[in-house]
Amino acid sequence: MQELDITNLDDIRQCLLENMTDVVINCAAYTNVDKAEDDYATADLLNHKAVENLAVACKERSATLIHISTDYVFQGDGNLPCMEDHPTNPLGIYGKTKLAGELSIQNSGCNYLIFRTAWLYSPFGNNFVKTMRRLTSERTTLQVVFDQIGTPTYAGDLARLIYHIIETNQLYKTGIYHFSNEASVHGMILPRK
Ligand SMILES: NC(=O)c1ccc[n+]([C@@H]2O[C@H](COP(=O)([O-])OP(=O)(O)OC[C@H]3O[C@@H](n4cnc5c(N)ncnc54)[C@H](OP(=O)(O)O)[C@@H]3O)[C@@H](O)[C@H]2O)c1
Repeated sequence: MQELDITNLDDIRQCLLENMTDVVINCAAYTNVDKAEDDYATADLLNHKAVENLAVACKERSATLIHISTDYVFQGDGNLPCMEDHPTNPLGIYGKTKLAGELSIQNSGCNYLIFRTAWLYSPFGNNFVKTMRRLTSERTTLQVVFDQIGTPTYAGDLARLIYHIIETNQLYKTGIYHFSNEASVHGMILPRK
């Protein structure tokens, strides 16, 4: 499998040229929300500057950039779902750098679709669904904090949406979109002994 470091603009340009790329789907990011608080430089490099690189390269090639963003661009203190035009106000470094990435795409002039999603899970990697399944198989009772509300979203559904958009020639619909599965849950995954 070929790898591409998206912090390197020339490498991106070369990759898009060699592969005659029309659509770039960016799933890469710095996603460790807690660690980002102590590592602004790396979070900004990946979530902002590298995203700007992709947008610049897409603009040059008239390619479309599909980019995954997050509900962390919002303050997150409401009880109602946020619409796309809800004012952004990220509180932490992760959200701030993800928002900066969104803005750099918008300012680049490239054709783009940004999907803000939340609480992604899948059979791959680490995620809260896998963690909860493991913990509930190991313990009879769990204590979890109860201060977050979210909409768990199956990554396969987001992937299907992106595939559908490409397959049905809807790439011209430039803009920001919110995507999550339905139904919200309370709590998060930090077990307390
Ligand atoms: N997980 C969630 O609940 C959630 C919720 C909302 C939005 N999102 C967004 O969804 C997207 C995917 O999230 P995820 O949880 O799947 O992230 P993840 O598991 O942390 O994966 C991030 C990916 O970025 C790659 N990467 C890091 N540095 C790179 C570089 N310089 N060049 C190219 N690739 C690089 C990593 O590759 P290596 O493994 O090789 O380092 C890794 O495959 C992100 O944009 C995230 O902000 C996630």
